[in-house]
Amino acid sequence: MEKYIINGGNKLVGETSVLGAKNSVLPILAATVIGNNRSTILNIPNLRDVEIMEEILISLGCIVERVGNTIMVDSRTLNQIVIPEDLVREMRSSIILMGSMLSRTKEVVITYPGGCEIGPRPIDLHLKALRHMGAEIEESYGQLYCRTEGLMAADIQLDYPSVGATENIILAAVTAKGVTVIRNAAREPEIIDLQNYLNKSGARVSGAGTSVITIEGVKTFKDVTHTIIPDRIVAGTLMVTSAITGGDIILKNVIVDHLLSIIAKLRETGTQIYANENTIKVSGPKKLNSIEMLQTLPYPGFPTDMQAQMMALLSIAGGTSIICETVFENRYKHAEELTRMGANIKIFGRVAVVNGVKELTGAKVTAKDLRGGAALTLAGLASKGATEISQIFHIERGYENLHIILQNLGADIEKTN
Ligand code: EPZ
Repeated sequence: MEKYIINGGNKLVGETSVLGAKNSVLPILAATVIGNNRSTILNIPNLRDVEIMEEILISLGCIVERVGNTIMVDSRTLNQIVIPEDLVREMRSSIILMGSMLSRTKEVVITYPGGCEIGPRPIDLHLKALRHMGAEIEESYGQLYCRTEGLMAADIQLDYPSVGATENIILAAVTAKGVTVIRNAAREPEIIDLQNYLNKSGARVSGAGTSVITIEGVKTFKDVTHTIIPDRIVAGTLMVTSAITGGDIILKNVIVDHLLSIIAKLRETGTQIYANENTIKVSGPKKLNSIEMLQTLPYPGFPTDMQAQMMALLSIAGGTSIICETVFENRYKHAEELTRMGANIKIFGRVAVVNGVKELTGAKVTAKDLRGGAALTLAGLASKGATEISQIFHIERGYENLHIILQNLGADIEKTN
């Protein structure tokens, strides 16, 4: 199994560019099956999760071609309705294919995605909304058998602004008869990107980015070319990299507007941040300040996908910080690994109390999930001595060539078998 070996202590300095957002690519690739058309999607990172979605589209009969950071999908040849179970188990967010397949084929069989490293990950909000739109969904033997005579528009009030449920409903509504309204919709930028892709192909979606999204069903779609927005979580992770190493990093090709909550919290630690349209400069302070309260919330609140990285940073801040993870039930697995590196962290349910220590020391640690693994990498960069991180396949699900990006910024990090 591949590992990262890090010798900490270097200040990271330099410039790097941010690639397309994983959490935007995945719903947009799922959406390509709807239009019975050709989609050319640009600025796609090389990640296992993206490969899985490509494999699913190919298994459904689509023609998929990847050239560098561009993927072409021709969904006119789609001829299957069963999503391969092993691929869904490997990537639970493939559940948003329910909406797009019901739109296209009116039928889909998909295995229950189940939980993952950060919690049980239920899909009750997805199922309730799709049934409200006229989908018959039978759950048996771990499989979801979904079919419809034709989805009907509906007025849907989400109990929670779930990103995946919002995306699934949009994908189901784009061909449904009538006008669908989603209230208490998720407001993440990736949903705006999905709306923009769909509208370029002829759909009529509006309101993405707000909590009320309206979708008017249409029948025909045209070929579309779309460029994925930059990954705000990769950008945030690199911003924390500069803060935790006392470095000086310039990030190009970012959308500053998507980073406002991360900028605000990093400034509280004494990190200096200069931002213009699509460039941001982050300078880490000599001494990091603790943060009185860091609460993760749906967008535009502080992103849960940045919680682990901030815990690593606050582990060496002067004073005590409180973190409250309100989005997922079990997203502190990185805390015990950080403790092995000398951090002083206590977990009480969804609350973590982080007492900053003078310095972390290198250790053998294990990545338990994507963002927790990124947090351990950042901690290793700031630690005294050598850190060995195993199970880095978790990290590589969401970060393309992270070790190379960090090497180019001056980190002493190697990937070994
Ligand atoms: C998306 O997951 C992202 N994944 C996650 O990023 C991100 O952490 C999350 O949104 C929140 O921003 C992708 O976009 C592929 P949710 P998703 O539905 O859609 C509960 C990463 O690291 N819930 O908004 O699964 C759920 O259990 C990943 O890149 C229900 O109870 O998130 C969770 O507690 C991790 N019932 C909360 O809502 C449902 O039917 C938020 O989940 C659906 C969700």
